[in-house]
Amino acid sequence: MGYFITFEGIEGCGKTTQIKLLAEHLRAAGRRVTQTREPGGCAIADQIRSILLDADNRAMLPHTELLLYAAARAQHVGEVVKPALDEGGVVVCDRFTDATIAYQSNGRGIDREIVDTLNTLACRGVRPDLTVLIDCEPVQGLERARRRIDTSSGPREERFELEALAFHQRVRDGYLALAAGEPHRFLIVDGSDTIERIATAIARQVVSRMEEQHHAVR
Ligand SMILES: Nc1ncnc2c1ncn2[C@@H]1O[C@H](COP(=O)(O)OP(=O)(O)O)[C@@H](O)[C@H]1O
Ligand SMILES: [Mg+2]
Repeated sequence: MGYFITFEGIEGCGKTTQIKLLAEHLRAAGRRVTQTREPGGCAIADQIRSILLDADNRAMLPHTELLLYAAARAQHVGEVVKPALDEGGVVVCDRFTDATIAYQSNGRGIDREIVDTLNTLACRGVRPDLTVLIDCEPVQGLERARRRIDTSSGPREERFELEALAFHQRVRDGYLALAAGEPHRFLIVDGSDTIERIATAIARQVVSRMEEQHHAVR
């Protein structure tokens, strides 16, 4: 039986950094790990990703954005996440359904029911077993994200980084509300801590929760 872990939090909170460290930790412990991300994670969804994150697409309407996320997720779940879980592997995914609620509903103001319906359509029953929320002040996260964009040579995936601070504050609050509503699924870590200490806290919690699930099944 597989185990599905998602990482959430605002831009620059440390998701990509921590997911890599967790995947390495789990692999060293002998687990089969699929590391993936949204939007994207497979060829078709990566093409949708480039439309979504392109800073030149300033004219994109909130509903267009929501539908593109749902389309990318449907492909990614069907092609990557579900098959890996069915084979009994651990899947760690950088952003998932909670991001769509926090950004498109709390951030953009789209009706929560519409977002939930599209998430359900795209996931077809696949749900995270554990969601790591790296909580972070928007000022700190955006400062880190800008530094990363300015120093990397890849495509400038910065459409969301260019949003106003108030938008990121709504996204952060949306994430915290989701975590408060499902305390058993969420693990909240303090993103202002050092990379090493956050990694240690996540690894310890993830291993203990995976063991818990294992015993619950047996
Ligand atoms: N806890 C931390 N303390 C200081 N810098 C960090 C921390 N976590 C990540 N960073 C740095 O901040 C930048 C953004 O981190 P990243 O993992 O890419 O964030 P995200 O994927 O959430 O946008 C990177 O340059 C990373 O090295
Ligand atoms: Mg990232």
